[in-house]
Amino acid sequence: MDQDIIEKAKAYVQGLFAEDSGGHDTTHTLRVYENAMKIASSEDCDKEIVALAALLHDADDHKLFDTEDLSNARAFLRSAGISGDKEEKICRVISEVSFSANRDKAPSSIEAMIVRDADRLDAMGAIGVARTFAYGGQHGRNMSESVYHFHEKLLLLKDMMCTGTGRELAEKRHVFLEEFLKELEEETGMGRCKI
Ligand code: NI
Repeated sequence: MDQDIIEKAKAYVQGLFAEDSGGHDTTHTLRVYENAMKIASSEDCDKEIVALAALLHDADDHKLFDTEDLSNARAFLRSAGISGDKEEKICRVISEVSFSANRDKAPSSIEAMIVRDADRLDAMGAIGVARTFAYGGQHGRNMSESVYHFHEKLLLLKDMMCTGTGRELAEKRHVFLEEFLKELEEETGMGRCKI
């Protein structure tokens, strides 16, 4: 894998997300990249596709950018000299990652399974809690609306993991989410789904 391209991709997303402070910032992308490489190490896969798809997976997120056909991701891949064939494979992975667009529809490649698991892991555990309230605050949601998000999405993710390592990592994070909601319910009566 060409480490130089990976570093360039990191710098590119850093530039794209310079303005954002909600759940989808550069640190999220870098964590997804780290999770993805961890999962990839025990899978038979193309690690360069995994790495670049992970780093670019939110580069055209419709909540942040008004782009079409993954044009931010494609612009980077072309500038980095990635072949047309590989560009298509990476873009296919990216389009299969999004939770809202895919729900539990099965990914078509091992690389897409890995990046999807990696992205979903970042919505679980302590970081999942932190991101949910950060995003909620930024979008004018009150706390119980954010708590609802745990029930409508975050608690479902454990059973949607596609890889063995993803499932393993998700297990611990899921237990933490349940603990958190239980504690919140005890302290405030707000842990249950009320909307
Ligand atoms: Ni993401």
